Amino acid sequence: MKEILLNTPGKSSRILVGESYRNIRKYLPDKPLVIITDENVALHYGDSFPDGIRIVVKPGEASKTIDSAAGIYDQLIKHEIDRQSFILGIGGGIVSDLAGFIASTYLRGVSFAFVSTTLLGQVDASIGGKNGVNFKGFKNMIGIIRQPDFVLCDPEMLKSLEPSEFRMGFAEVIKYGAIQDPGLVDFLESKHAKALEMDPSVMEEIVGICARAKAGIVSNDENESGERKKLNFGHTFAHAFEKLSGLPHGESVAIGMVLAARLSEQMGLLTSGETKRLADIISLYGLPTSYEGSCRDAFEVMKNDKKRGGDSISLILLDSIGKAIIRDLPLQKLKNLIDDLC
Ligand SMILES: NC(=O)c1ccc[n+]([C@@H]2O[C@H](COP(=O)([O-])OP(=O)(O)OC[C@H]3O[C@@H](n4cnc5c(N)ncnc54)[C@H](O)[C@@H]3O)[C@@H](O)[C@H]2O)c1
Repeated sequence: MKEILLNTPGKSSRILVGESYRNIRKYLPDKPLVIITDENVALHYGDSFPDGIRIVVKPGEASKTIDSAAGIYDQLIKHEIDRQSFILGIGGGIVSDLAGFIASTYLRGVSFAFVSTTLLGQVDASIGGKNGVNFKGFKNMIGIIRQPDFVLCDPEMLKSLEPSEFRMGFAEVIKYGAIQDPGLVDFLESKHAKALEMDPSVMEEIVGICARAKAGIVSNDENESGERKKLNFGHTFAHAFEKLSGLPHGESVAIGMVLAARLSEQMGLLTSGETKRLADIISLYGLPTSYEGSCRDAFEVMKNDKKRGGDSISLILLDSIGKAIIRDLPLQKLKNLIDDLC
């Protein structure tokens, strides 16, 4: 088991990688407990949950809404939950985003923690304190940054995931390698067979490397005014693909990273060999590398992306594999480059 500390000015949050979920009681404070989870997670792991009030939501983005949050506030009030209570979110990114939002807003804030149960959750969503819900079809429109007391990441829990959910988590894993860790890229290439078989020590190593990377970035830039933006590598394209074609997030990020690499190559930053290497790793993990729809349509969506500032768009590009840079591109220039890409 590895313990990683995420230190921000207001808080030190513990990330426990490789700890068994069966040991969760060791980390819980002696306070009344409320567990927020979803139906799938409750089905697989409900028998091992600690004692407490259980609030079980339906799986899926439809549960990450203000309406669903309002239903949970009602239940908390009904059970007379006060500020001395503790909220534990057990689930993937949807549960952690929702449970963190509830815990951060109910009675102006109750202590909370997560048991993260998906690969995307363990390497990304549960770490960093971004808690929030979707609103009127816009993702993560309403939320707050507040760090949990701890996050427990047990790679054994990944075994019950649908294979496609597991694979999609690798898009975010590969992202850390691409933006800041060439050693991780080497590791992912050499260990891909074991990783895809969910070899416990390989998965613990991968989750540990990624959790440490995210904790390091967030410790330096909790409010995303600089370095944290690099975590959006591939995501500006990805959000457009998700919106236009309904492609799942992990697949959209995979394609978005390849397009961002190709854009970097067009701008003379990356070599064609490096772009190919990134695309090859993405394929190794069973993820797509090209977009079937229209990139021109995707550009129109990107124009309206929330990261747009004036007539330019802020994009994360690669200077090399393992080194991301942030560039503001004029919209017209981006449009011309995208026309050449697709
Ligand atoms: N807060 C952040 O920094 C951040 C970062 C990235 C993504 N996110 C958010 O994360 C969400 C996506 O998270 P996700 O990919 O984990 O999806 P998810 O939470 O929907 O989980 C995926 C599916 O797997 C099921 N599941 C979860 N754990 C399981 C397990 N161990 N065994 C069997 N089934 C299991 C769930 O019920 C669900 O059907 C999105 O809403 C996204 O916006 C947040």
